[in-house]
Amino acid sequence: MVNYFEILFYLSIFLLSILSYYFCVKNNKSSSKRKGYKLPPGSMGWPYIGETLQLYSQDPNAFFINRQRRYGEIFKTKILGYPCVMLASPEAARFVLVNQANLFRPTYPKSKENLIGQSALFFHQGDYHNHLRKLVQASLNPESIRNQIPHIEELSITALNSWAGGHVVNTYHEMKKFSFEVGILAIFGRLEVHVKEELKKNYSIVDKGYNCFPTNVPGSPYRKALQARKRLGKILSEIIRERKEKKVLEKGLLSCFLNAKEEKGLLVLNEDQIADNIIGVLFAAQDTTASVLTWILKYLHDNPKLLECVKAEQKVIWQSNEQENHGLTWTQTRKMPITNKVVLETLRMASIISFTFREAVADVEYKGYLIPKGWKVMPLFRNIHHNPEFFPDPQKFDPSRFENALKPNTFMPFGSGVHACPGNELAKQEILVMTHHLVTEFRWEVVGSDSGIQYGPFPVPVGGLAARFWKESTTST
Ligand code: HEM
Repeated sequence: MVNYFEILFYLSIFLLSILSYYFCVKNNKSSSKRKGYKLPPGSMGWPYIGETLQLYSQDPNAFFINRQRRYGEIFKTKILGYPCVMLASPEAARFVLVNQANLFRPTYPKSKENLIGQSALFFHQGDYHNHLRKLVQASLNPESIRNQIPHIEELSITALNSWAGGHVVNTYHEMKKFSFEVGILAIFGRLEVHVKEELKKNYSIVDKGYNCFPTNVPGSPYRKALQARKRLGKILSEIIRERKEKKVLEKGLLSCFLNAKEEKGLLVLNEDQIADNIIGVLFAAQDTTASVLTWILKYLHDNPKLLECVKAEQKVIWQSNEQENHGLTWTQTRKMPITNKVVLETLRMASIISFTFREAVADVEYKGYLIPKGWKVMPLFRNIHHNPEFFPDPQKFDPSRFENALKPNTFMPFGSGVHACPGNELAKQEILVMTHHLVTEFRWEVVGSDSGIQYGPFPVPVGGLAARFWKESTTST
């Protein structure tokens, strides 16, 4: 039977698409005429949906690389209804993130902003952003990280012991648990176990909803995530109340927030602002570090000779610490040249933040092209990291490439400019400490031929790397 409602529905979508296409083309033309500059080359795809289907139906890296080959280092497209300009050169990325950063504001989908909290620093620019950034940086300074190394060590040993025994574990999920614990440590210092468990439970619901389609209907993961986010707010406000009442002297980000002084007319942070930023930092810290650790495990497993070199480097440190009966020190983590290059090469190869988003706040001219106001602008880190001009034979995992000086601005795993990652030093320490114990006391094998790690079009890792772990001493008997 003919469903007239359905026909009407598709007809209206079709007409709406034609209309939006007409207005879009008209706007683009008038916008470019207005300034006398042309839009960058590239295809805007289908009316309304643009090239969304092309992006989602193939490897997202192939989508970007193919367009870079076809159009060059600056090209336009349309994704999820948004006109975008993609930038694949170091100069263009620097232009947007550093030199003219004030013309490009950070932009995230509203649905994601609602889950993290609108006051989180990465959604902001200007004084509020500067103020928050100083507080976050103060809590992640080298001195604080140095003091946290013994605790990070304890967390990595506990995690590794829990995987050992030969059962199959999902490495990425386990690494996420570990990086969550380190995140909690950096934010709260010590925290009572039951409070930590409550945070963990609700945060994982938020995390699941973050990567799902944002429909706010009963029972949907997104609705559940919003509800869990509310509960997280309550738990955090309880922690804040207790810390204020008992004048708890813990180190970490929360203490920095609570002790913030008035600066440039900005008031001390209120509870909502603190909660949004705590969730924001947890969010920024967890998946990123866990992904890098998962990839390191995979790359070392796939390169046995390299693994032997890393092992040899780490064994020397491990044996001397065993003899002197102390744990890893900050100075030691600074003297791991081979392991450090493995970390850098992993950051390049995996480019886990493959690109970032900004939005032009005005019409901007770049190299004779117009970037119209309101368009999304995406510096493509991964394209730069995989450009053979800067990194010869880019698909090869080759840490020795970091022995030579790099061309300026070609390596940005932690971003660049005012929003560059304030957690990069903590992340590196976390990765080095975990790798030290992994290669000196454990061995592992990857299960199945496929790594199982893939990345969606947005910098969200999916999958996990199935692996088995054994403690070395127990397997050698
Ligand atoms: C290997 C792990 C990590 C990688 C690859 C990474 C990467 C990045 C990148 C590329 C940005 C800039 C995004 C942009 O410009 O839009 C960023 C921002 C940020 N990262 Fe990280 N990150 C990592 C770990 C961490 C950790 C451990 C923390 C905190 C403890 C953290 C906290 C942040 C915050 C708060 C921002 C926002 C800064 C701002 O907007 O001013 N990240 N990160």
